[in-house]
Amino acid sequence: MADTVLITGGTSGIGLELARRYLADGNKVIIVGRSEQKLVRTVKENPGLIPLLADVSREEDRVRLYKTIVREHPDVNIVINNAGIQERLDFLDIDWERCRKEIDTNFTAPVHLCGLFAPFLQGKEHAVIVNVSSGLAFWPPVNMPVYGAAKAGLHSFTYALREQLRAHGIKVIEIIPPAVNTNLGGPGVHAHAVSVEKFTDSVYPDLLAEKEEIGFQYTEQVVGKTRREMEARWRKSGI
Ligand SMILES: NC(=O)c1ccc[n+]([C@@H]2O[C@H](COP(=O)([O-])OP(=O)(O)OC[C@H]3O[C@@H](n4cnc5c(N)ncnc54)[C@H](OP(=O)(O)O)[C@@H]3O)[C@@H](O)[C@H]2O)c1
Repeated sequence: MADTVLITGGTSGIGLELARRYLADGNKVIIVGRSEQKLVRTVKENPGLIPLLADVSREEDRVRLYKTIVREHPDVNIVINNAGIQERLDFLDIDWERCRKEIDTNFTAPVHLCGLFAPFLQGKEHAVIVNVSSGLAFWPPVNMPVYGAAKAGLHSFTYALREQLRAHGIKVIEIIPPAVNTNLGGPGVHAHAVSVEKFTDSVYPDLLAEKEEIGFQYTEQVVGKTRREMEARWRKSGI
């Protein structure tokens, strides 16, 4: 049976690559982005994707997105909270707007969307929520303190949500990417990292197999580790 997949942040990077894989497998795929121009370009380059405009950092956009799905795409059975931004923040000279937007996009949005979509998914034959966290959920990055904290919060939330929803027939999956070569944090910041295609070659089959926590390369090793174990490992590697 084909799935109907909703992916936030589907105009580039990991979200777009996941959207392409689901589409190629014959599923219906709806991508959400905050830029109309990028959505139009993405759909032109990837015919078949269905675009929806929403800035998930805004509460009213999240509610509007939910209502649009209920009205126009009630067949959605997989919700992927992938949209994210990454800010370098100096707390001796804090730009609160950037900081607030990072929290709203990376933490508040997925939590709120889970709250909106869990009751909608309940009772569906194949219901899945996927949250995209980060290896930095497990190792606080000093120059990106809010990014790491938001992702650590999302990891904790996803773990608890999985246990809450387990008995209600909704699978909750966490993808924990390592550094991947996308535009996250600005062009070139992740140029050293693994390609998004290679990352997705590994992650997509794990997603179809509904593995609960999906890592790749070094983030495969963080699953279930304590911070003390992580510190020992990361200090040894010199990161
Ligand atoms: N790349 C990595 O190294 C890495 C590592 C660990 C975790 N991750 C996580 O993976 C996820 C995907 O990131 P990526 O690396 O693929 O980065 P990306 O290429 O920059 O893609 C991010 C996507 O999120 C969208 N987005 C951002 N803010 C949004 C908002 N407020 N409303 C709607 N859409 C929004 C972007 O849309 P626009 O094009 O409109 O900006 C874009 O489609 C993020 O959650 C990120 O934190 C990435």
